[in-house]
Amino acid sequence: MLKLHIISFGCQMNAADSEEMTRPLLERGYQMTSDIAEADAVFVNTCTVRQHAEDRAVSQIGRLRRWKSRSPGRLLIVAGCAAERLKESLQKRFPFVDLVSGAKSIDEYPAALEQVLKKKFNFEKETGDYFPSAPPAGLKSQPFSGAPQSHVTIMRGCNYSCSYCIVPAVRGREQYRSPAGILQEIREKVSRGTREIMLLGQTVNSYRYPREAASFGRDALLTWRRTGEPKTARDFVDFPDLLRLIEPTEGLERIRFMSPHPHYVSDSMITAMAECRKVCEHIHLPVQSGSDRLLRLMQRNYSRLEFLSRVAKLRSAIPDIAITTDIIVGFPQETEEDFQDTLRLVEEADFDAAYCFKFSPRDGTAASPMQGQTAEAVKKERLKRLLELVESRALSKKARFIGREVEVLMEDVRFGKTRNFFPVKFERAQTPGRLARGVIGAFENAALVVKG
Ligand code: SAH
Ligand code: SF4
Ligand code: F3S
Repeated sequence: MLKLHIISFGCQMNAADSEEMTRPLLERGYQMTSDIAEADAVFVNTCTVRQHAEDRAVSQIGRLRRWKSRSPGRLLIVAGCAAERLKESLQKRFPFVDLVSGAKSIDEYPAALEQVLKKKFNFEKETGDYFPSAPPAGLKSQPFSGAPQSHVTIMRGCNYSCSYCIVPAVRGREQYRSPAGILQEIREKVSRGTREIMLLGQTVNSYRYPREAASFGRDALLTWRRTGEPKTARDFVDFPDLLRLIEPTEGLERIRFMSPHPHYVSDSMITAMAECRKVCEHIHLPVQSGSDRLLRLMQRNYSRLEFLSRVAKLRSAIPDIAITTDIIVGFPQETEEDFQDTLRLVEEADFDAAYCFKFSPRDGTAASPMQGQTAEAVKKERLKRLLELVESRALSKKARFIGREVEVLMEDVRFGKTRNFFPVKFERAQTPGRLARGVIGAFENAALVVKG
């Protein structure tokens, strides 16, 4: 039997893409394996958000040279954001790769894959009984079965141009999926055992879809360019509308989303989050910096005060909401004072967790050639100070759950997450894929523990 191994770098969008892009292989009889040595096909989804991420992906491809040379029938597919950025040079450097498919060409990918497969295999012979009678159905067919949590991509691309960020260059402009298509995918996934969905998009809450097209249930991706006739907000199904559309889905227990952009955290979004019982009490809201000067240089489109006021509104509308964030240190021209502003913001916003990154210059972005690049040693030292603060606060925030009863969606017999996205361990076995309740007895090794 043919075996498939997936290596997905980068964000959850990439993880969701990996699932979609390997589906045609699964439909043709490949079975998943976690053991790369026995794999007949390896799918590598690459990331280029920071140099380090790209380097990891590229050296992974390099290491696959030997795996590939062991058997001529082996298939190696490289996709995603670094593939988009490096394309030809990647193919030149690693001629043994069968298919390089950049993040922007996801629409052309099924046909390209088909070509490669045709050249490589006589599938009827290779996979015997597993060859499906129907032709491969492209990317939007059978979802994976049984997973208690599933990703649902509601938009692709990004219309922002944050000065440090390569994502718009490798993923292109925003494209939105129709509400009907999204609802259908959710219902299918729920019917196969999914209890929690994570709606995905680079700025997931900038989602909009023309009401006119939505009411016809047109199931297609639609590129909405910010040109032409200005439309009023009510002509569109927006993100809060979408939450309210998803909420009644029978059998669905939890709704999450990633990553919202602070600019689009409107009052109506906060109200929808508060009123929809299934929307979890957690938001990952990347702030990047606590300095207004830097936020302007970064072109983030909000001020420190605006960010903090949205955090305050979220906290007052949604009791006990967990707020997590992303922060960049060592952006060009960041002074000690700017950095102190960030430290102070971490305290004021009272984050439950933060992913912290050293600024990594990406070719072609506005920040890469900026004057006043921060020295590596300074970046390192600031990152260390920031992490110390973030971690000490995260510990005390988690400790507040000791003695409280929580609802946990079990991912495994003993492991799951609360609605606030905190990991919980159960000493006694539970049913995977189901909601469990328990009183937190301790906090050990970064996890809350339900004893007995
Ligand atoms: N679309 C999301 C973020 C996607 S990238 C948003 O706008 O919120 C994930 C995180 O990587 C960002 O939030 C940022 O903190 C970090 N990041 C992006 N580009 C970076 C760079 N050039 N150097 C360091 N960190 C970067
Ligand atoms: Fe990058 Fe900014 Fe778009 Fe996020 S909003 S993907 S940080 S350009
Ligand atoms: Fe990386 Fe692309 Fe996601 S650059 S962070 S995989 S959008």
